[in-house]
Amino acid sequence: MKSKYADLKLNEDINKIKEAAECIKEGKIVLFPTETVYGIGANALDENAVNKIFIAKGRASDNPLIVHISNLEMLNNLVQEIGEIEQKLINNFWPGPLTIIFNRKDCIPNNVTAKLNTVGIRMPSNKIAKKLIELAGLPIAAPSANISGKPSGTKIEDIIEELDGKVDYILDNGMVDIGVESTVVRVVGEKVHILRPGKITVQDIENLGLQVVVEKQVMEECRPNEKVMSPGMKYRHYAPNSKCLLVYSETEKKLIDEINKQIQNTKNVLVLARTRHLDKYNTTSKLDMGDSLEDISKNIFTLLRKVDSYNADLVIIEGVKREGLGLAIMNRLIRACEHNYIEID
Ligand code: TXA
Ligand code: MG
Repeated sequence: MKSKYADLKLNEDINKIKEAAECIKEGKIVLFPTETVYGIGANALDENAVNKIFIAKGRASDNPLIVHISNLEMLNNLVQEIGEIEQKLINNFWPGPLTIIFNRKDCIPNNVTAKLNTVGIRMPSNKIAKKLIELAGLPIAAPSANISGKPSGTKIEDIIEELDGKVDYILDNGMVDIGVESTVVRVVGEKVHILRPGKITVQDIENLGLQVVVEKQVMEECRPNEKVMSPGMKYRHYAPNSKCLLVYSETEKKLIDEINKQIQNTKNVLVLARTRHLDKYNTTSKLDMGDSLEDISKNIFTLLRKVDSYNADLVIIEGVKREGLGLAIMNRLIRACEHNYIEID
């Protein structure tokens, strides 16, 4: 291990979190857990420190970072104003997996926001993340922990090879709770626009009596030079090197028949399927996605990282209904498959 490492899987050793918080204060970068995915964090007010994140990840400089806070005083120092709708979202979903876009103050360095006049902010609920921010006493800018383009890290074993030595400190909290990144929203007029779906769902927000718009890039491909509300949407993301195909039908039998038809037409196929469908496919290479949406959400990034080791001619992935957490899962899968998607009525 080239980076400093603390095993906090079973107990939260406060002294280790303090050491990591000292790193943040000194302008170093720390790999830390959140409830969604792991992040690579730096002092959000220190341009040089934030630059180290972009270098470690190989991230494009026009893709802004989310700033993580532990209290509302930090929020007031970072943003111009907090509207009524934003306040409602904060009251109901923070701390938790929701990132809200605000108009920013000038104290935030340009590299955090990719020179936009807005900033994405969230207050994580993971205890270690909260403690780290509190002990540093600073807002922490952090993208997901992965080399740019790869699936986000949901456990250290998946990302240690690509990130060891590139960060100063690693806080290992075992497997994350959720497995897909936070829901990103921006309020425009009276409506809450979903820029990236996550564990906080369309229904969760509508249940507050708010109107929701799902941005079309959540499921559709961006055209070159298309103006998008969230720069992250236009990047190649999560895709294995193997060719992947996403298949979905509301009808279980049609889904299984279509995938078996595809298997017949290709030599060496790997299938990613729900546990209850695994024995229905006529191929020897299969990976178990789990059965509930919560299981699939937790497993999906680890599975996408395993796919290439099978050297398959085609990887077929079972889709899920685009409802609730299913929208977040499909948003990640359609990107992993580079929009190679079949839906059977
Ligand atoms: O769950 C998460 O959000 C994780 C953990 C570590 O908190 N973080 C994460 O960060 O997923 P990242 O950098 O991988 O994704 C941030 C997304 C990108 O799609 C980015 O374009 C968008 O949020 N974003 C950030 N700031 C924005 C802004 N000012 N306006 C629009 N989109 C923004
Ligand atoms: Mg990311």
